Amino acid sequence: MKKGKKVTIMGAGNVGATVAYILAMNGVCHSVVLRDRNSEIAKGKALDMSQAANAARTHTIVSVAETAEGIADSDIVVITAGSPRLPGMSRDDLLMVNAEITKEVVQEVKMYAPEAIIVMVSNPLDVMTYVALKESGFPKERVVGMAGVLDSARMAHFIYEKIGYGAGQIRASVMGGHGDDMVPLPKFSTVAGVPLSDILTEEEIVEVVERTKHGGAEIVGYLKTGSAYYAPAKSTAIMVEAMLKDTKQIHPCAVYLDGHYGYTDVVSGVPVALGAGGVEKLFEMTLNQDQKKRFAKSVKSVKTMIQVLKDKKFFDQKTNSK
Ligand code: 2OP
Repeated sequence: MKKGKKVTIMGAGNVGATVAYILAMNGVCHSVVLRDRNSEIAKGKALDMSQAANAARTHTIVSVAETAEGIADSDIVVITAGSPRLPGMSRDDLLMVNAEITKEVVQEVKMYAPEAIIVMVSNPLDVMTYVALKESGFPKERVVGMAGVLDSARMAHFIYEKIGYGAGQIRASVMGGHGDDMVPLPKFSTVAGVPLSDILTEEEIVEVVERTKHGGAEIVGYLKTGSAYYAPAKSTAIMVEAMLKDTKQIHPCAVYLDGHYGYTDVVSGVPVALGAGGVEKLFEMTLNQDQKKRFAKSVKSVKTMIQVLKDKKFFDQKTNSK
C-alpha cells in the first residue's frame, strides 16, 4: 500500500494535542502520531481523537509512537515538547530548560525522520527554531517556527475588539520574533482592504500594538497554570496544512535569516511561502525607519539568547539520549 501523509507531534500537551485534533478533524493527512514522555496519556488522547475522526467521517488515524522508531517516515514533525510558560515567566525564562528538551527531541527526528520538515512551536520560539536547525543539520528550508500566524491572528482579533465589525475580514501583519519585542505592522494591516489608519486613531492603533505584544501573557494571566493553546494550535495546523497540500500560501513564520533584511545567523519572523518543500520563498518587505528599528530590536533580543547558549557551549555538547 502506498504510504499516506504522516505528521508526528512531539509533545502531546495542550498545544500538541490540539494540533493533532485539528489535523484529524480536517482530515488533512492519513496519520497523526503523538510522541510524549507520558505514553499512557498520549494513548488516551489518540484513541479519543481517532474516535472523533470517525464521528466526523474523516480518514485520519491518530496513534502513539511509544519508541522513537514510531516517528519514522514522517513528512512533518511538529515540536511542542517543552516546559510551558507560567504566570510571571517570560518566554525567555524557558530558554535553557527548553533548549535541552529540544536538543533531545531533534536527535530523534534526525535519526528516524531525516527527510521531515520540522515545525517548531516550543518557546522561546525563535531560539528553539535556531536550536532545531543547528542540532538537526537539516537545510534551512525544512526548519520553520510557528508564531507570526498566531501573533497576526491576535492582532486581528484586537483590531476587531476596537471596531466591532469586520470579523474574519481583518488582515493584520506581525513580523519579528515571538517575544515582547515582536513587530506588529499596523501600516500593513487592513480591514477588508481598508487601511487600519483610516479606521482607528493613532492612539487606538498604539493600544492594539501593545496588546498584541502581550497577547500571550494576557491569556497566561487568566489560565494561571499554562499558556494559550487553541490559537497556537490552529496557527500551527494552518502551516502544516499549507505544506502537506503544497498550497504555496504566504504566512509570517520564524525562519533562518541568511543575509535577509541584513541579518545573518539568526531566526526571526518574516513572510514566507509554504509548500511541499517547506519554506519555499522568503519575502523581503520594504520597511520604513521605525519598522526597521523595531525589527532590529527584536532580532537583537533573539541574538542575545542565542549568544547565551553559545557561551554555555550548548551547541558543542551532545545529548545522552542516543
Ligand atoms: C503564546 O504566545 C505561550 O508563546 C505562547 O501564547
